[in-house]
Amino acid sequence: MTPDIYGYAYFQTSGFSPKLAPVVDEVVRWFSFHSQGPAIPEIAARMQELADVARAGVADVLNADSEEIMLGENATIGINVVANGIDWKSGDNLILSSHEHPGNRLVWYNIARLHDVELRFVEMTDDQDRMREQLTRLIDNRTRIVSISHVSRRTGVRVAARDLVRIAHERDVPLLYDGAQSVGAIPVDVRAIECDFYVFSGHKYLMASQGTGGMYIRKDRIDWLRPVWIGSRSQKDFDLQGNMELLDNARRFEFGTRNLPDQIGLGKALEIWKSVGWENVFDAIRRYTDRMKQRLEEIPRLVLETPLPYDRSSGIVTFRLPGHESGAVLQSLQENEKILGSSLEFDSEGIRLSTHVFNTEEHLERLVSGLQRILRTGR
Ligand SMILES: Cc1ncc(COP(=O)(O)O)c(C=O)c1O
Repeated sequence: MTPDIYGYAYFQTSGFSPKLAPVVDEVVRWFSFHSQGPAIPEIAARMQELADVARAGVADVLNADSEEIMLGENATIGINVVANGIDWKSGDNLILSSHEHPGNRLVWYNIARLHDVELRFVEMTDDQDRMREQLTRLIDNRTRIVSISHVSRRTGVRVAARDLVRIAHERDVPLLYDGAQSVGAIPVDVRAIECDFYVFSGHKYLMASQGTGGMYIRKDRIDWLRPVWIGSRSQKDFDLQGNMELLDNARRFEFGTRNLPDQIGLGKALEIWKSVGWENVFDAIRRYTDRMKQRLEEIPRLVLETPLPYDRSSGIVTFRLPGHESGAVLQSLQENEKILGSSLEFDSEGIRLSTHVFNTEEHLERLVSGLQRILRTGR
């Protein structure tokens, strides 16, 4: 891919990334192949085989087992599978953070409404002692789950993942990490974190098709979830009298006709990143992000909302220019310098820029000169 897409400095990977050119080629190739006749046994078998390669690729990058991976269209599907798979009782509670995306928020608001469940919120902060303290204080014997971002979509703060799991598990409470902003940007090892569930999107840092993603479900949590989201292909066996046996693995939550070319494209993306070397990818994102923070700090009065230390942040940099409305700043940068960022419309006044390996020094120059222009001219 070229670093300038329609002339934009593309800092919107946290929303949707541009796609890797070989991934696009792969999707088109297998879409054409599949479309010849999806019911032809040789075609169907080949497509399934390649989609299973994608599943193995996801398992590999998360350090999970393929049997623990559910593939779907996005991160939010996994959150729904978990949220609706809990046997809620009136008076239960669940814990989110204050920075959650609507995908990890509305699902739970709905649960609260449907089942008379209390919502509790940890204030997301880069002070991990405070995070631990808050979680310890909020959890009680009616808490059924903690669902929180591994990396905040708002500030890019990276939580102390293992510590929060430990606190939840001490009270026998499962923990779901929303990894939409982490997978592909920072190392994720679900075995080391020991979380129960981990959802991710393919269309952000992995640079795979829109509408790819999935979830890791720790083996012992597969049967723990009530299977409210199943259908054809979820089964190991069934008869016409109402008996069925579900698959033992996370595929029980996948059903119906699937978009296999895009899943194969996800597998291709994972193969490419692996061949580049994940450490190289993570390191390039880290170096670029550090450099962006450094350059932004040169702008008078600019307030960085993202912590400086990279081990407490990720590939997201959020800032404000006091006295300037963020939406207007972003629009001005977009119109004049072709900087593409996000204004975080739901829950922040900040401007969010996300970085990836394709961002260049020239993008940073353009950003800095645009901000200086706004300070000089007032708009
Ligand atoms: C933290 C977070 N969670 C969930 C989502 C929703 O992801 P998806 O569209 O893959 O469900 C996003 C998307 O921006 C996100 O940033």
